[in-house]
Amino acid sequence: MSFIDDIKAKAKKDKKTIVLPEYMDSRTYEAAVKIAKEEIANIVIIGTPEQIAANKGDHDLTGITVIDPSTDPNRQKYIDKFVELRAKKGMTPEKAEEQMMSDYMYYACLMCKCGDADGAVSGACHSTGNTIRPALQLLKTKPGISSVSGFFVMDVPGFENGGYGENGKFVFADCAVNVDFDSQKLAEIAILSAQSFEAFIGAEAKVAMLSYSTKGSAKHDDVTKVADAVKIVKETHPEIKIDGELQFDAAVEASVASLKAPGSEVAGQANTIVFPSLEAGNIGYKLVQRLAKAGAYGPVLQGLSMPVNDLSRGCYADDIVAVVAMTAVQAQMA
Ligand code: ACO
Repeated sequence: MSFIDDIKAKAKKDKKTIVLPEYMDSRTYEAAVKIAKEEIANIVIIGTPEQIAANKGDHDLTGITVIDPSTDPNRQKYIDKFVELRAKKGMTPEKAEEQMMSDYMYYACLMCKCGDADGAVSGACHSTGNTIRPALQLLKTKPGISSVSGFFVMDVPGFENGGYGENGKFVFADCAVNVDFDSQKLAEIAILSAQSFEAFIGAEAKVAMLSYSTKGSAKHDDVTKVADAVKIVKETHPEIKIDGELQFDAAVEASVASLKAPGSEVAGQANTIVFPSLEAGNIGYKLVQRLAKAGAYGPVLQGLSMPVNDLSRGCYADDIVAVVAMTAVQAQMA
């Protein structure tokens, strides 16, 4: 079974309610119809009757819940919750209502926060920042986690029977969120990524902390930052298999690992790849996606108190279906 078929099967076992706030995009309706037909999740679309009618095209929304925020009986509850959560930031009922009604991602996050939905997916026509900011502000991180990061499950063809990663499957992180991180944050990304790998792929994570240096072959503060993050993970989570700093070839290719990092329990067999910067992570996943024709599922946010996930603006309806299935599986684990 392919990675995404496996995730869909998991999602179907305990159907969760996922909100799609992008009523203005036809891909939302196409995906919602597919999700309802395949019974992957209960879908909620937010929009007034006029907004829905102007955008849904010929799609038959039977089995999909449409919430009209202008008449929703829960609207006051969401305004109150918004004010309660953001009072210290100067939130007032008037501002809360204005923000919720002009940006339905806020509405969707408040539905999650109030227990009326289990997760949300957006980003087909909003930037990553605008998609995840409401979740960062309203849902916040899980206890003990300082920052949210974003990973991709990469499914690289040609290795189904072995070779690289877990039969071609990897977690790559952080490819989406943190523009600036120190060793502490990098260590946290590694720990969350190991947990994400095990949850989504169902095998033991072997975490490679990438650099342009392997085991001291180059000296620079950037290299030290990665090596320090490895030390932190080893001290705080000795159960995680992790090594670094490693170059990518030493991380995944056994023959290179035996030369550059002999004796490592990760080098040459890594399946969880943690990049040293957002630039490296974002460029890295796109290189593998395009040049190796790999499946790239995500970015999936890790560390949030409830699952909210972003889409690429170039996504197809099937990508939305996949990210909804992953979000539903995260909700099952919450
Ligand atoms: N984890 C948890 N909380 C966070 C994080 C984080 N990583 N980053 C910001 N926050 C919180 C802040 O604490 C703040 O909370 P508060 O309002 O309660 O105090 C709130 O989120 C807003 O934070 P700001 O500092 O104002 O940050 P801003 O909203 O400007 O940016 C964002 C946050 C959107 C995540 C920013 O870091 C960003 O744009 N990152 C890059 C996204 C991107 O463009 N990725 C590449 C494309 S994705 C792709 O190709 C798949």
